[in-house]
Amino acid sequence: MRADALVLFGGTGDLAKKKLFPALYEMEEANELEIPVIAVASSRWTQVEFRANAETSIRDRIKNVDEAILARLLDELHLVVGDYRSPDTFAILRDKLADFKLPVIYLAISPDMFESVTQGLADVGITKSARVVVEKPFGRDLPSAIELNDSLKKILPEDQIYRIDHYLGKESVEDLLVFRFANTLFEPVWNRNYISNVQITMSEDFGIEGRGKFYDGVGAIRDVLQNHLLQVLTMLTMEPPIDLSSKSMQDEKIKVLSAVRSIECDDVVRGQYVGYLQEEGVAAHSDTETFVALRLFIDNWRWEGVPFYLRTGKKMAETTLEAVIEFKQPPRLLFTDPGTPKPQPNIVRFRLGARDGVDMSLQAKAPGAHLVTYPVDLTVEFAAALGERKEAYERLLDAALQGDHFRFTRIDAVLQSWEVLNPILKDPAKLHPYFADGWGPDESLDLVPGGWNAVGLDVAPN
Ligand code: BG6
Repeated sequence: MRADALVLFGGTGDLAKKKLFPALYEMEEANELEIPVIAVASSRWTQVEFRANAETSIRDRIKNVDEAILARLLDELHLVVGDYRSPDTFAILRDKLADFKLPVIYLAISPDMFESVTQGLADVGITKSARVVVEKPFGRDLPSAIELNDSLKKILPEDQIYRIDHYLGKESVEDLLVFRFANTLFEPVWNRNYISNVQITMSEDFGIEGRGKFYDGVGAIRDVLQNHLLQVLTMLTMEPPIDLSSKSMQDEKIKVLSAVRSIECDDVVRGQYVGYLQEEGVAAHSDTETFVALRLFIDNWRWEGVPFYLRTGKKMAETTLEAVIEFKQPPRLLFTDPGTPKPQPNIVRFRLGARDGVDMSLQAKAPGAHLVTYPVDLTVEFAAALGERKEAYERLLDAALQGDHFRFTRIDAVLQSWEVLNPILKDPAKLHPYFADGWGPDESLDLVPGGWNAVGLDVAPN
C-alpha cells in the first residue's frame, strides 16, 4: 500500500536542502507525491522561513522550475518545530498524523539520534503503522551497529525499516548489474582469469561545506567507504542473483562481502586535507580522515588474487565517481616491434556520477605501414543514448512510499560491511596530511603498483 503522509525529521537540515526538497519537486512534477509533507525540526523557524528555504533549494538545483508545480508543493509542506528529546514534539506529530493510516517517517538527522527519535515515535504509537527511513551511516562500527539494531528491532520489525544508502538509488550503480548480467560479452571474462585489477574512485573537489559537526564524528571511512563504495564493489563482484527480489540481491551481496579478506593496516592510507582543522565544528586536534584509500582482496573462486583499490576524498583535484576494470594483456606474440608502442590493457570505465556512461578502451591498428596498436575509446553517454535518469533521492523516496525494499539495505548486509572495515576502524592507519586540488597523500599513489588510472570526464556540473 502506498503511504499517505511523509514526515521529514531534519527538515531544516543540510540533506533536506541539498537533496530532499529537489527530489520532492521532481516527484510533484511526476505526480508521484500527492500527499502532505510534514517536516520536523529543532531550529525555531517560522512556516514562512521554512517554505522560503525549500523554495531556494529547489530553484538552486532545478532548471526551469514550473511555478504552478512549485506552488503546489510548497503548499503541501508543513513545519513542526520541537525538541527531538521532548515527548511534546511527538505528541504534536501524533495529532498531525491522526487522519493518516500509513506515514513514512524519514530520519534525516544525526545518526546518534536515530534510537531516541524512534523511541519517541513509538511512545505515541506512530510506529505501529509507519515505515521508518534511516539515513546512513547505520552505527559507527560493528558493535555500535549491532547495538543500534538491537534497540530498533524492539520497536520496529525489519520490514518497517528502510536503511538508505543513496548510491542504491543511482541508476548508474544499478546499471552495473545490467551491464554485467545482460551482456554475454562481459560475464565470461568477469573474473580472475581476465581481470588484473579494479579501481573505484569517489572524489570531490570541495571540502566539508559547513558540515563540520557531523563530519568530524564520522570521517571518510564511515561517510562514504563503508556504504557507497562497498555498494559499488558488491555490484561489480557479486554472483548473479537467482532473481531480482530484494532478498536474492541482499543474499548475494552478503556472500561476496563475507569473502573479503581481513584488511591489513598496510593496505590502508588515511589522509586529512590541510586546512580541515580550521573548519567550523571540527575538533582542534581531530584525527578524522577526509581521505581514505585501500587495497582489498576477495577470497573466492571468481576473484582470488585480484586486487581491488578503493579511494574517496574531499578537496581533491576533481569531482568524480567511477569504477575502472583493467584487464590482463594478451600474450605478447604480435605487435611488439622494437621502437613501437606496446599494446595497452583493455579498460572498462564506468562513469557513475553526474555524466554517467561507460568507456571501453580497446586496441586498434594505428594508421601506417606497420602493424602497430593504438588505444581507441568506445564511449557511451547514457543521458544522450537513453535520456535523462532520475535522481537517486527521488527514486528512494518513491520506493519508501511504495513500500519496496529493493533499493534499501538489509541489516545483515550492513553488519557485514562493518565487519569488512572492523580491522581498520579498531586500529586506524596513520593520518597523512594532503593539499587540496590533488589526489590525496602520496602514500596512496604507491598503493597501486602501476599507479591509479587517470580519472575520466565525470565532472559534476556544480
Ligand atoms: C553523502 C556523504 O552520503 O554522499 C557526502 O555524506 C557526500 O559527504 C555525498 O558528499 C556524495 O553523494 P553523491 O551522490 O554526490 O556522490
